[in-house]
Amino acid sequence: MSSVVVVGTQWGDEGKGKITNALCSDADLVVRFQGGANAGHTVSLDGVPIVFHLLPSGISVPGIQNIIGPGVVIDPIALAAEITGVTERGVEVGENFLIDVGAHMVLPYHKAIEAAEERARGDSAIGTTHRGIGPAYADRCARDGIPIGALAAFDEFRRRFEETVGRKNEHLVRLYGEEPLDARALLEQLRPVALSLAGYLADTPEILRAAIREDRNVLFEGAQGTLLDVTFGTYPFVTSSSTTAGGVATGTGVPPSLIGEVIGITKAYTTRVGAGPFPTEVTDDTARMIQERGAERGATTGRARRCGWLDIVALRYSIAVNGIKRIIVTKLDVLDSFETIKVCVAYEIDGSRTDRFPRTADELRRVHPVYVEIPGWMSSTAEARQESELPPPALAYLKQICKLADVDICSVSVGAKGEAIVEFTSIF
Ligand code: IMP
Repeated sequence: MSSVVVVGTQWGDEGKGKITNALCSDADLVVRFQGGANAGHTVSLDGVPIVFHLLPSGISVPGIQNIIGPGVVIDPIALAAEITGVTERGVEVGENFLIDVGAHMVLPYHKAIEAAEERARGDSAIGTTHRGIGPAYADRCARDGIPIGALAAFDEFRRRFEETVGRKNEHLVRLYGEEPLDARALLEQLRPVALSLAGYLADTPEILRAAIREDRNVLFEGAQGTLLDVTFGTYPFVTSSSTTAGGVATGTGVPPSLIGEVIGITKAYTTRVGAGPFPTEVTDDTARMIQERGAERGATTGRARRCGWLDIVALRYSIAVNGIKRIIVTKLDVLDSFETIKVCVAYEIDGSRTDRFPRTADELRRVHPVYVEIPGWMSSTAEARQESELPPPALAYLKQICKLADVDICSVSVGAKGEAIVEFTSIF
């Protein structure tokens, strides 16, 4: 099977951008299937980092067809700006990029409503990225959204937009006491954007199905992580899309029978941005060390990420939900200077030990992690390119993860640079 799905097994920020970019050398197509500009996939371009929010990570690799599938929500203004930005960095965005006509738009009122809702939630705020993701998916489900294909007929779009802004303004003004949005001014902004994106619009599901039938290598690039999935994550502290492998079918039109292997991306420790339960979170010097060494700041919002140890209970859950057999471990080098490394192997809840990942945020909040301690390696892994070049305790740490989570590791990332990878087995 020539199609591979890459998903994060934690709360996002596992380093999927770098890994997707590395896998691109063997891919013919790279596809985003969910999420929107809330994602921030950092890849290295000629040694300088570049962050993609909506563009698939394969865009910087010549010869790859990049597709945004219908399961993604697209902020057209942000996408047009991103295309301009990467073009200025010498990246070609032309025939190598397609946007499915059915992907819904994130429009300015979605962002305004999200900001007002988050403010109204007060202490219970979700800590969203303020990219309008939740309200855009809510409108899609409520049959009040506007697919991006509508931009092709701008006059008809204008009529629909003005009518919708009228209703959204009622919501903003009456419910939240906010200022109404000026539909005309927004349309002025949207008109050139519509023109610049028109050439990329396409009907993509059949292109993808045909590519897989022809045995071309297709890489489905997940955004966020399993524990942020709207159904299987730590609800309500989740994003609003299906971040798990199941999202590929509904987010691209490729049936489950054509989806091949699912590869999990697992950071050697855990991070989380925004609110919500996080059993292995640490707040002492360890957290500061991880945060500094791992540059753990949000690529989209710049917020400091919460940090903690690797959680095998959560990893096993992600493996089960996605059907993962192999993982890629990232940022192993961040643990290079720890004398001891902790791994959470079970939870304790109400005095009993369990290896079940709770299905509600309230229950997850009540668990206490049960740790095993593993000796650190206290030496640099950054230059390792082969298994034999990893310090034996680092290898023992990886083997322990495989054993505890019942999974194989196909490679390990040991630094931000593209070449900083130790490959055990190949993906395609
Ligand atoms: P939203 O996706 O902006 O609605 O945010 C919902 C939750 O998902 C918040 O806790 C965000 O911090 C989190 N989130 C969204 N996108 C990402 C991401 O790309 N990485 C990590 N966390 C994310």
